[in-house]
Amino acid sequence: MTHYHLPLRLKRLRKSKAIRALVQETRLHREQLIAPLFISANIEHKQEIKSMPGQFQLPLASLAEEINELGALGIQAVLLFGLPEYKDATGSAAWQKNGVIQQAIKIISNTNSEMLIITDLCFCEYTDHGHCGVLIDELIDNDHTLELLGRQAVSHAEAGAHWIAPSGMTDGMVTAIRQALDKAGFIDTAILSYSVKYCSCFYGPFREATLGAPQFGDRKTYQMNPANSNEALRETELDLAEGADLIMVKPAMNYLDIIYKLKQKYPEVPLCAYQVSGEYSMLKNAAAQGLINEEQAMVESLLAIKRAGADLIITYFAKDIVRLI
Ligand code: PBG
Repeated sequence: MTHYHLPLRLKRLRKSKAIRALVQETRLHREQLIAPLFISANIEHKQEIKSMPGQFQLPLASLAEEINELGALGIQAVLLFGLPEYKDATGSAAWQKNGVIQQAIKIISNTNSEMLIITDLCFCEYTDHGHCGVLIDELIDNDHTLELLGRQAVSHAEAGAHWIAPSGMTDGMVTAIRQALDKAGFIDTAILSYSVKYCSCFYGPFREATLGAPQFGDRKTYQMNPANSNEALRETELDLAEGADLIMVKPAMNYLDIIYKLKQKYPEVPLCAYQVSGEYSMLKNAAAQGLINEEQAMVESLLAIKRAGADLIITYFAKDIVRLI
């Protein structure tokens, strides 16, 4: 049979596994993955989170084992969330010397001094009303919250945290935290700012995991409207001007355009994306029902985040994906 003379046949470069690997443009690297951990002051045994199959609330007593497992898999960064002993109106459990996160940081440093310790800095897990700061009436008191964020950041740094990741969308949070850290002498503690955090229903399973759901209302007065993209540029510009060392977009999958835009605009700034609890649970549940292949869904979703422009990825799949890359 005669063949068409086509100027080019792109299928030539898809023909074998070796060829596909040679021309693959985007890759996942274990060194760029961050594993989130939930550490609870209130349990004695590791407890699976129902809404997030395969994820656990960990007591301090199980932390060393978890860190060793992550280290053995080549994961070198963790993001810590705390479930404190008590909650109150200001979230004061967040800055106690003996708080659950402060203790966790010490255990991690003693277990593996190479592990990069990042702490999520927010108040929703610590306040009895479940909002991300102190309130006046039913609204966040922004500037009072800034002062308390500074306090929490310094207490994390004192315990040995390497990076602080403020997630409360408080105006001026990077300035306040930088000033507080510098004043206390922690000039080398970096700030990974959740610069662009949308008010997303995809945090649902996480709120079950951390018991941090708002007790009334929602987070629309501080987290971003999913309909906005220009605003993401303004948020990021401000965070960078305030001294953020790294920036973040969250969630990831529904916001790949935002990741792309930010990477185009700030190619020189390390960009992190957070594949959040709802993204994880959605894929897990679909796979459990036989609707999609879990391994492929995990790889495809993470590659897409990378391809859009993320450098670092926070993902609950960290342990699973490193076994494949
Ligand atoms: C704390 C915080 C949240 C998440 C990370 N930090 C919850 C929220 O903002 O409601 C969500 C993470 C996830 O869903 O995996 N403010």
